[in-house]
Amino acid sequence: MTATDLFPLTDEHKMIQQAARDFAQNEIAPIAAEFDESGDFPTETIRKMGEMGFMGIEVPEEYGGAGMDTLAYVLALEEICKADASHGTIMSVNNSLFCYGLLRFGSEEIKQKYLRAVASGEAVGAYSLTEPMSGSDAGTMRSRAWLDGDHYVLNGRKSWVSSGPAADFVVVFMMTEPEKKHKGITAFIVEAGEPGYILGKKEPKLGIRASATSEIMFEDYRVPVENRLGQEGEGFKIAMTVLDAGRIGIASQALGIAEAAYAASIEYAKEREAFGQKIGEFQGISFQLADMKTRIEAARLLIYNAAMAKERTKQTGERFTLEASMAKLFASETAMFVTHAAVQIHGGMGYSKELPIERYFRDAKITEIYEGTSEIQRLVISRLETSLR
Ligand code: CAA
Repeated sequence: MTATDLFPLTDEHKMIQQAARDFAQNEIAPIAAEFDESGDFPTETIRKMGEMGFMGIEVPEEYGGAGMDTLAYVLALEEICKADASHGTIMSVNNSLFCYGLLRFGSEEIKQKYLRAVASGEAVGAYSLTEPMSGSDAGTMRSRAWLDGDHYVLNGRKSWVSSGPAADFVVVFMMTEPEKKHKGITAFIVEAGEPGYILGKKEPKLGIRASATSEIMFEDYRVPVENRLGQEGEGFKIAMTVLDAGRIGIASQALGIAEAAYAASIEYAKEREAFGQKIGEFQGISFQLADMKTRIEAARLLIYNAAMAKERTKQTGERFTLEASMAKLFASETAMFVTHAAVQIHGGMGYSKELPIERYFRDAKITEIYEGTSEIQRLVISRLETSLR
């Protein structure tokens, strides 16, 4: 029995999975190495992904999305990430960190103005929580916003904004009442290029190099009250709720990377000969392949389970934090395990830029860091479990 027997896919699921697979293998895989090398943002393929409905999969059609469910999203994202994790990051930020937040917490006006453009792929969305001195401890941000008439004035330095240099619209979190700590954080939707919005340095990164990441500085940036997401002081809960969705996306990204590395390793083990036999005939290699496959399938089960949990909560409004964190923790560590083994199985060729194996290895690492490190996932899981007992 496989994961897809336990979580039967509808014709619609199979259709989007196939469409994403075809697009990824035909249009993204051939350019992935080049964009990894240059670090350029892949504007053209991202635009096409928007046209295909991949940039707002769970957003209802009335707001410019594809109107599908979370399982459809993870299936499509996994396929994109098998070809290139950088495209996957951009897709995941757009879908989970931007669109999901606006869908859950945005007013009708916000949905019409910003969600429609980003879900349809006409504009790129981003999410900005982290600051130079506030990463895992997200409640301690220093950026400030205060009300001035019918506008808020925003000041501060945000860092590690995925898609930052390319984003048209950003969900940004700022302190409005510092004495209230995490209950004093408020979320806003800001537009790039307006006065006081200053794009900072682009990060030179180990992996996912084509998904541009940057700092954004706010200097007396004025945002209308209507662009507040949720109520004043609700920002931290919004940030965490959105990250729960984001973590399912990153888990799917990790799964896609792991699957690509595993598939390449199987092929290599069947072809490459040493000491008079195929290397896959050595137990040293075949047992590694067995461990890789087992972890990949376990990760898939956790991811599909988290996707179904998120889907159920659309009716109940309950949280899916536990399922999302377990999926992200296990899938990201699986991606590291599998890509590390894949480099070793390929030997010198695994270390060479002639094959994508070393890129998979570099790309996998971020999945253990962003949208909550593995340590934060362990903290979230253990806190939830101990509070339940
Ligand atoms: N959903 C809804 N509410 C939540 C929540 C969730 N998942 N998690 C916490 N909350 C609520 C709590 O219920 C609590 O509410 P009350 O005050 O009403 O009781 C409140 O938020 C504070 O919760 P905690 O006391 O647990 O807060 P904490 O300060 O101890 O932090 C944390 C908890 C889990 C460590 C959290 O800070 C966290 O997840 N940190 C990691 C941040 C992160 O993932 N950053 C990545 C940013 S995005 C990125 O990577 C870049 C990119 O662009 C991709």
